[in-house]
Amino acid sequence: MSLWSRHKIFETNSIILVIGVLIVISIGGLVEIVPLFYLKSTIEKVEGVRPYTPLELAGRNIYVREGCYNCHSQMVRPLRDEVERYGHYSLAAESMYDRPFQWGSKRTGPDLARLGNKYSDDWHRDHLRDPRAVVPGSIMPSYPWLEKNELDAKTIGDDMKVQAALGVPYTDEMLKKAESDLRTQANADDPNTADLAKRYPNAQSRNFDGNPQKVTEADALIAYLQMLGTQVDFKLYDNKANVR
Ligand code: HEC
Repeated sequence: MSLWSRHKIFETNSIILVIGVLIVISIGGLVEIVPLFYLKSTIEKVEGVRPYTPLELAGRNIYVREGCYNCHSQMVRPLRDEVERYGHYSLAAESMYDRPFQWGSKRTGPDLARLGNKYSDDWHRDHLRDPRAVVPGSIMPSYPWLEKNELDAKTIGDDMKVQAALGVPYTDEMLKKAESDLRTQANADDPNTADLAKRYPNAQSRNFDGNPQKVTEADALIAYLQMLGTQVDFKLYDNKANVR
């Protein structure tokens, strides 16, 4: 019997064909799925990615509260136009501590994944107060209350505890010092700045909203915005990962 006539069994009997298809698909599925059960993590570890500081986390909460994600994504796709506009495409590890993630598929405003250090703190403060003051014709809403509202820092420790329960590697020391670390980061002259940087490498510490009287919601949000996309040093990756 030739090979072709054996194949005829499948082509003339739909039940046998379906069973054959199922067997072939299950083998393919097993090959793809089974290894995932033996991997500890499917996210490649990337140097520089660290959990958010208490101030950045508080800023991130405000970002979510105000619905900034309705107009802004935080994920640069590996396509030439995106990479040329925003910078290096996003790595999975860059959002490994994001709960919930902020990738998004709708952009009324630009992607913010590489925003950190692009503008000055003053620019951000003015832009949040009234976007039209710095970008004529902007359709972004104003958020003038952020620089007036004092930041509610009392619950940030609890928030970090929840994040830790979900797997974010906050240490006991980080949890204990949550509120004081938050205040340290919002004040460049704080004597504990070096101590904070030990716990959170590359954390930027200063008075983000330009108002030394109090720690405001704008302080937290701007600290978060200035950190976005700055954790990974892409010079280490550039030779390996160019977009073609
Ligand atoms: C209704 C849609 C909308 C919402 C909501 C919105 N934005 Fe925007 N955003 C825009 C648009 C449009 C632009 C581009 C014009 C401009 O720069 O103002 C922009 C620009 C920006 C920029 C400058 C980005 C760059 O690379 O030039 C930042 C930073 C920013 N938004 C932050 C925020 C934050 C933080 C929030 C939430 C507090 C927010 N936006 C909410 C629409 C929005």
